[in-house]
Parts: sequence; structure tokens; C-alpha cells
Amino acid sequence: MIQTAALPQLWSYGHPLDMDDDKVGLLRPSNDALEDVDELRRRLDTDGYLFMRGLLDRDDVLAARRSMTDRLAGQGLLHPDRDPVDGIIAPGQTLTFKPDLASKNPLVEKVLYSGRLVEFYTRLFGETIRHYDFTWLRCMGPGKGTNPHCDLPYMGRGTHKHMTCWVPYGDVPFELGGLMVLEGSHKRMDLLENYVFRDVDGFCANKPNQVANARNGGWTFTGTLSHNPPQVRAKFGGRWLTTEFRAGDFLTFGMFLVHAATDNRTADRLRISSDSRYQRASEPIDERWVGVEPPGHTLAGKRGRIC
Ligand SMILES: [Fe+2]
Repeated sequence: MIQTAALPQLWSYGHPLDMDDDKVGLLRPSNDALEDVDELRRRLDTDGYLFMRGLLDRDDVLAARRSMTDRLAGQGLLHPDRDPVDGIIAPGQTLTFKPDLASKNPLVEKVLYSGRLVEFYTRLFGETIRHYDFTWLRCMGPGKGTNPHCDLPYMGRGTHKHMTCWVPYGDVPFELGGLMVLEGSHKRMDLLENYVFRDVDGFCANKPNQVANARNGGWTFTGTLSHNPPQVRAKFGGRWLTTEFRAGDFLTFGMFLVHAATDNRTADRLRISSDSRYQRASEPIDERWVGVEPPGHTLAGKRGRIC
């Protein structure tokens, strides 16, 4: 089998990806269709994602990055001898999920919740939109990335037609890892139906062990589809798609697309990215992710039912 010449060996969750042309590939930019909303919707339906190169203001994205790396430096998490904006992790530190960096951060909010992204989703959805108030912000240090999953199990109590937007804060070469999506996986409901509609915060109110677990803030299941990206691809078919991202790019997809991250294989550099969510204002919204202090996956977000 011919290997994809443009791609180096990629790793995800500690597994080397199969690098044959029919198993891995590059994301297709859709900048050419930006003015043709029908074509954008067709591509979203066919491919399961839209990848936009440089549509965000690069200076705004980099200003948001600096605001976050300054906070990280203030928390003693970055190498003291390096410029914080380089995102070099302090020796001995491990970092993954850091939503506090995006909280009450006007520079991040400017990128995500005003201007071009809001205009983009308003056109795509064809009506007034709203976004979740919670922003998922990740600083991924060296090591394993996120394992394969769909987003619906974490946010499926309102509409199921909302969309995730993944934004990298800085340039992301392959060695730093980044998001990858499984081509066509959103159409494999035969494989997804027993997984994707489960709610990580749901529990059986008539099963004492599940009640006790929920009271401790535990999840019924993790929402993970698999810990083995090559195996998922073999089951679903299609290709894992990724690219080298640049500050100003974004990648958006719906709730049923299987995605994961490639591993950060650098020695000490952080990959900083956010996930934000957008939907039609007229559709119901998942109460866990809105409000001044969204409850999220805390005890307040648990929902019991008789099983
Ligand atoms: Fe996700």
C-alpha cells in the first residue's frame, strides 16, 4: 500500500496510526465555499466537518494565546526562563484541561463569541444563533491526546444539531498533535446508536450503586468510544483526517462525528486549543452549559431516571 507522502508517522493515544492512503489523510479546507452556504451544508453532510483556513483574525487569536500563557506563567506552570507565549511547560508539570484560562477572558471571548465565528454560524444555521457559555480549554502537554469519542454524550440534553468548533491558539505542526476526525463516521448510526445517545451524567435512580456514584460526582460512563484509534478506524472504515494547523484556522463538526487528537510528541511544548459550541437560538439548549456558572458535569448536572 502506498503511504501518504505528505504525512509523517502520526500517533494517537499511544498508538501509531496506519499511514496508508486509505487510512489517513489531510482535512479539506472549505474556504472556497465560504460564500456558498448551500455548498458548505452539502460538505458538512457529506464529510461531517468544515475546515476553514485562516478565517479568524490571526492577531486576535495570538493575543488570546498570550492572555492565556500569561495566566499559566502566573500560576507557575510555564518554564521560568522562557517567554510565556512560547508555551514551554515547567519541568515536572502536567497539564490537560484548563477551562479557567478561558473564564472571564475577553480576548478569548472576542475570538469565539463575536465577529467572524458568529457570522459564520449565523449563515450556516440560517438564523440567529446562541452559544454555550462554557468554553472547553485545553493545554495539552507532551503525551497522549484525547481518545476517540462523539460529543453528544457530554451535551445531548437540548438540540442534537449543535456544532463544536475547535480553535488552535498558535501554529500546530504535526509533532504538537491536534484534532483528527474520522471521515464519514457521522453516517455510521449502525455503529453509533448504542453509544452516542447515552448521557455521561445520567444515572439509574433505582440502582443504589449508581446513585452513590452520581452523588460523588461520578459518571455512568466516560463517553469514550475507544482507547484504540486504529481499531476504531478499522471498524468504521474511512480515514483519520488531520492537518498542520495555524493560528486563525478552525475546524467545526456536529455531534455524531467521531474525533480524537493526535499525540503531542514534543519534549516540552503545550498545545493550546478550545472547543466552543453553537446552535440555533430557537432550539432547546443543554442546561449544563449555560449561565453565569454553568453546572457542567458537577452534581447539579446529574440526572436520574428509572431504568
Ligand atoms: Fe470532542
